[in-house]
Amino acid sequence: MNIRTRVGIIGAGPAGLLLSLLLAMEGIDSIVLESRSREEIETTIRAGVLEQGTVDLMTGMGLGERMQREGAAHHGIELRFDGSGHRIPLSELTNGRAITVYPQHEVVKDFVAARLKQGGSILFNVKDVQVSDVSSSQPHIRFVHKQEQMELQCDFIAGCDGFHGVARSSIPASGQTVFTRSYPFGWLGILMQAPPSANELIYAYSERGFALVSTRSPELQRLYLQCDPQDDIANWSDALILEELQVRLATRDNWQLLVGPIIQKSILAMRSFVIEPMQYGRLFLAGDAAHIVPPTGAKGLNLAVADVRHLARALTLFYKENRTDLLEAYSNTCLRRVWRAEHFSWWMTSMLHRFPDDDAFGQRMQRAQLDYTVSSRAAATSLAENYVGLPIDW
Ligand code: APR
Ligand code: PHB
Repeated sequence: MNIRTRVGIIGAGPAGLLLSLLLAMEGIDSIVLESRSREEIETTIRAGVLEQGTVDLMTGMGLGERMQREGAAHHGIELRFDGSGHRIPLSELTNGRAITVYPQHEVVKDFVAARLKQGGSILFNVKDVQVSDVSSSQPHIRFVHKQEQMELQCDFIAGCDGFHGVARSSIPASGQTVFTRSYPFGWLGILMQAPPSANELIYAYSERGFALVSTRSPELQRLYLQCDPQDDIANWSDALILEELQVRLATRDNWQLLVGPIIQKSILAMRSFVIEPMQYGRLFLAGDAAHIVPPTGAKGLNLAVADVRHLARALTLFYKENRTDLLEAYSNTCLRRVWRAEHFSWWMTSMLHRFPDDDAFGQRMQRAQLDYTVSSRAAATSLAENYVGLPIDW
């Protein structure tokens, strides 16, 4: 069966869903194809930190009601090392900007509900997605839905299908350059049923490696420990995880982690990855399909949002004014911000983790950087403006 739309969007993550909503505001129709079920995308635990610009955009689009109610605005973060905590007053250093802790799967729920309420089309559980003819003016996507072979004819295809998606792999090797860096550690992430241990996020550097205290709700904490990326989660009993968190987070004034049952645990790999350009013919990549950052800077979700804002604007000008300049500039426009975020995430990661082969010199450098960051207003401001997020047209 053949169907048609203006913009075929692969992937119903934050990037794909937000793109369909932004296009709908301009009267541009799209269809979103998602390989997983609605339930799965609405329950998978991912990131949790929204930049000020992401919050403002969602609010301005009328999508921020539940986020305002259930999310938590944070005006600072803590850097903890050598047994002491140091607050970085994000809002004070950035003219009142802040971050909001609101889980990504809740963002996804809000986006799916809003799009379906508009009568928008999101096809879940699609299989065998294949992209063709992206070098022509009539690209199309073949896929199977409810056992039926379908073909979606489009003007443009947006590859919003994450790091493991198919869109990027349909670009020939000669049409892409890949930049990548892997890190010799991963993060062990847990969800723990306990009220928040702190009002703000804590990024801790310790002899035994990095630890992060975050939250998900008034009853649920999200915590991470640096670990061996090859480690098996079965090697980490709940008791061991709690002990390791307590040791890495210990302070001289005896700070206490509030503990409770651990209800989920998993190990995540850490990598930096960028593909250039983020476009091939009429295929435009956005979000994790085009770039990955290590989670230390909390940038992944926010970069995806920035990409699709630019893409929606470029497509709008194409349809309304027949302009192609923003589409042609899309990749360069996005990559400037992407590389800024790559640098920030790499910098935070390098400052806060223990490297397995680290020498005493490397550790002294990390301490010197931490000390400078918490004691110089200029250095703290640089961290703060990156953390709350640079303006969209920066
Ligand atoms: N066909 C259709 N959908 C696919 C395919 C495919 N072949 N492959 C993957 N997908 C879907 C995934 O199931 C997922 O729902 O694409 C979606 C991609 O969503 P995300 O991985 O969340 O990526 P993105 O929308 O770019 O969101 C930004 O940055 O750092 C991260 O945690 C952050 O996941 C967030 C991401
Ligand atoms: C999270 O809450 O999942 C989280 C918070 C901050 C980060 C990364 C992840 O830097």
